[in-house]
Amino acid sequence: MSALFTPIKLRGLELANRIVVSPMCQYSAENGAANDWHFTHINTLALSGAAMFCIEATHVEPIGRITPGCLGLWDDMTEAALQPILASARKHANTAIAMQLAHAGRKGSSHKPWDGGQQIPLAEGGWQTVAPSALPHKEGELAPEALDGAGLARIRDAFVSAAQRAARLGIDAIEVHGAHGYLLHQFLSPIANQRSDSYGGSLENRMRFPLEVFDAVRAAFPADRPVGVRVSATDWVEGGWDVEQTIALAHELKRRGADWIDVSSGGVSPLQKITLGPGYQVPFAAAVKQATGLPTMAVGLITQAQQAEEIVASGKADLVALARGMLYDPRWGWHAAAELGGQVAAPPQYWRSQPSTQKELFGRTTFGAR
Ligand SMILES: Cc1cc2nc3c(=O)[nH]c(=O)nc-3n(C[C@H](O)[C@H](O)[C@H](O)COP(=O)(O)O)c2cc1C
Repeated sequence: MSALFTPIKLRGLELANRIVVSPMCQYSAENGAANDWHFTHINTLALSGAAMFCIEATHVEPIGRITPGCLGLWDDMTEAALQPILASARKHANTAIAMQLAHAGRKGSSHKPWDGGQQIPLAEGGWQTVAPSALPHKEGELAPEALDGAGLARIRDAFVSAAQRAARLGIDAIEVHGAHGYLLHQFLSPIANQRSDSYGGSLENRMRFPLEVFDAVRAAFPADRPVGVRVSATDWVEGGWDVEQTIALAHELKRRGADWIDVSSGGVSPLQKITLGPGYQVPFAAAVKQATGLPTMAVGLITQAQQAEEIVASGKADLVALARGMLYDPRWGWHAAAELGGQVAAPPQYWRSQPSTQKELFGRTTFGAR
């Protein structure tokens, strides 16, 4: 019996297996609105065999985007653009669809990665970014404006409004983006947060705004649908955010009803020294899970079925998220099921692809049940 293919329940959401498609920015939206590229991308990966697909970082206000091509959910237009895409995914796939809600803070106003990723100057169509403190991410960049009380309230309200729109769109779960050096991580990390008010200084103060946003999103999203948080477990910089502080945050999140913690790392400082390797962030997820018991998602260079199976079977994490591996093999979940003796739901149009040696691969009765 494969551990990767055992079900798990997050609040009212039943997932048939432990595989998640990790959120991946597509840098292809127009004024925040999803388009035909998102239709292709989301509908393809909704059929991956993963029990949950997480929509890319979806920004809660225009200046919260990383790039001008980033997805948003801040008005009726951006909401309406997602509607037919989600309707199609729901019609043809039984994957749960989560959405990552995000604000880039001082990492906003950037070129797309394939255009170099540098900051876009104001004179070339960039925008003034905001952050906990007026400290640029990289030397030579235009400094962000430090958020005042009104700015914090505006952003908290924008998260709430996006969560309400997500609920209306039928999104099954929300992941609050608190990782990778974006706004909420900027509040957590002493590298980016040098405030002297109640939102900076002590660990309790640095956690205050991310926890306020979590509470506000949790309250705005239907009570039976789960809300999780993605964190960076470490900044990979001496004196930065670290695993011990991540565990303190996870305890707080658990107390406030978080349904999972998705454990990534890095992103707040260009000085980071990351030790890469297969499953390199799994030990962080395991440490958080062991200390808090909060359902935990491991991510980062998880590419092999047996590797994913071992992570779940050994109790290091409850779920595994894959990003690049899913782009490379958009039926990763099917192939993992074939290898591990699991079952996936496949649309009837594709049933004839089942290899003769894998008679039990497609769990036909479960298809279309949602
Ligand atoms: C194209 C691309 C876009 C990404 N966009 C996001 C994003 O929107 N939000 C996020 O939290 N992580 C994002 N990531 C990071 C992935 O979700 C994942 O954490 C990382 O790639 C490590 O997993 P992997 O080794 O399976 O790719 C992105 C990664 C890629 C490759």
